[in-house]
This record gives sequence, structure tokens and C-alpha cells, in this order.
Amino acid sequence: MISSLPKNFDLSKAVEKDKQLINEYLDKYLELRQPRIIWESMRYTALSSGKRLRAVLALESARVCGGDIKNVLSAACALEMLHAQSLIHDDLPCMDDDDYRRGKPSNHKVYGEATAVLAGDALLAYAPQVIINNTPDSVSKDILFRVLEEFLHVAGPMGIVGGQALDILSENKTIIAQEFDYIIIHKTGKLFKFAMRAGALLSEAPGEKLDVLSNYGEKIGYAFQIADDILDVAGTLQELGKTPGKDCKSGKNTYVSFYGLEKSRQDLENLAQSARKILMDSGLDSPLLVGIAGYIVEKTAK
Ligand code: IPE
Ligand code: IPE
Ligand code: MG
Ligand code: MG
Ligand code: MG
Repeated sequence: MISSLPKNFDLSKAVEKDKQLINEYLDKYLELRQPRIIWESMRYTALSSGKRLRAVLALESARVCGGDIKNVLSAACALEMLHAQSLIHDDLPCMDDDDYRRGKPSNHKVYGEATAVLAGDALLAYAPQVIINNTPDSVSKDILFRVLEEFLHVAGPMGIVGGQALDILSENKTIIAQEFDYIIIHKTGKLFKFAMRAGALLSEAPGEKLDVLSNYGEKIGYAFQIADDILDVAGTLQELGKTPGKDCKSGKNTYVSFYGLEKSRQDLENLAQSARKILMDSGLDSPLLVGIAGYIVEKTAK
């Protein structure tokens, strides 16, 4: 039950506005250059029909901190580039071997594996450059440096790479709960947390607000992977834009394989509820942030 949403609040409308803004800036930052094939391949995934959820969260985090979203747009786009890179590489035959992404053939299916690997590398290296070259000068260099350090932390071996490595190494293996937790937190959770932190840091939010928003990001990031694991067993290709049933076939450790469907749904609901409570208790319960916590649960409802 979502308790604090205004009656007429339309989440998809609110998200759509930010999504359009992000797409506009992504399009600009990723203008075609040479070698053309690399930029085309980068654009193919980064500009395809993803939800841009992490970028939207970064903008909203800035808003609830009283910040100016102009200061956050380049970091929000960089987040989406990092996310797109992780998806391109995640779909490769040597990783999850997925043929569809965002309702279209995966990057390597269109451009070939070599270009897909390089497009991922390119997005990863270009993203921090986008932050450095486009964040307004009014943002202090100390804050910029901190945001960049956190971005690189999430992208690297202490973040997504670490989570993805254990995810792949654990296929068809029994792992313990702490290892499984590590996978979820690193491959997915930390990027959501960083989205919230980037918005807050670039808005010069005080420590207490930064903590609250980080905490919310951690919870919904974890919840998001539970929902993704549920959808892999419950969704269709059309709904997901990616092949369902892949996790079981690949012998993945997922929340559903680890804990069963019923507990997965219960834990997802509890996490979303606690994410909403964190916001409400601190007065940072913007309809968009509260709504997104609810959306992550509702998208798995059938
Ligand atoms: C997919 O993320 C990868 C996971 C972390 C489960 P999204 O479901 O946010 O993918 P897009 O960006 O909307 O395509
Ligand atoms: C998502 O894990 C993690 C990253 C892409 C970094 P999944 O492998 O479950 O994501 P999908 O289901 O392919 O989107
Ligand atoms: Mg994967
Ligand atoms: Mg995958
Ligand atoms: Mg998945």
C-alpha cells in the first residue's frame, strides 16, 4: 500500500518528463563521431528504449535536496552510459548470452562481439569524461572529485565488475547467502545508491539527507534485482524486452532460485515498504521517490 502519494499523482507522467530530458542530453553527448561504428554501437544501446530509472532518480534526489538539476544532468547521463555498458557486456555470449535487450537484438547481435566489447569499453571511459566536461563550473571541484571517485567505485571491481564476476562464477554452483547478497548489492544495488548520492552530493546536501537518500537507494536497488529475478520467471519477451526464463536455463543463482517465489515477493514488498518509510520519516518523501518504490513491486504483480 502506497500511503503518501497525492491522489492525482501520475508517476509515469512525472518520470516521462525527466526521461525525455535525459534522452535529449544523452543524444547530445553521444553525437556521432569517428570511428563511426563505435559511436553507432554506443548509441544503439544507450539511446534504446530503457526506462532511464537511475538517471531519473539522480534528478529527483537533487530536487528533494533543493538542488538545481542542471548540475546533475551530466552525471545522470554518465550513470545511464555505465548502465548501458553493463548491459552490453552482460548480454555477450561469454556472459549471459542474451539475444534481446530493450525489445531489440542485443548489441553484439547487430554489431558483432568485437564492436560490442569496444562500445562497452568506450561508454565506460567516456562517461566520467562527460561528467568532467559538462558539470557546470558552479559545482566545486571537491564535490566533482568525490562524485567521480564514487562513480568509478561503482563501475569497477568494488562495484558492478565485482558483482558480475561472482554472478558468472557462481553459475551452476551452490553459494552461501552472504555471497548471494554480495552479487545483488554489487551488480545492481550500488548503482541505484550512487544515483541517489550523485543527486544529493551535486546539490550540496547535508550529511543527514545524503544518508537517508543513500539508504533509500540501497533498498530500492536490492529490491530492483529481486523484481528482475521474479520477472525472469513470470514475464514475457514482449513485457520485458529481453528473453524470459534465461536465469534458470543458465543455472543462475537468483532470488527466486535461492528463496522461492513466495519469499521473493514478500521480501520485495518489505524492502519497498522500508524504503518508503525511510523517506517519510525524514520528510524527503517526494511523490516520485515514493512512487518508484511502489512501481518496483507493482511491475511484478500479475
Ligand atoms: C536491467 O535494468 C538490469 C538489471 C539491473 C536487472 P533495467 O530494468 O533498469 O533496464 P532498462 O534500463 O530499463 O533497459
Ligand atoms: C543485471 O543482472 C546486472 C547487470 C547487467 C550489471 P541480470 O543479468 O539479471 O540483468 P538482465 O536480466 O540481463 O537485464
Ligand atoms: Mg547477468
Ligand atoms: Mg543478464
Ligand atoms: Mg535478470
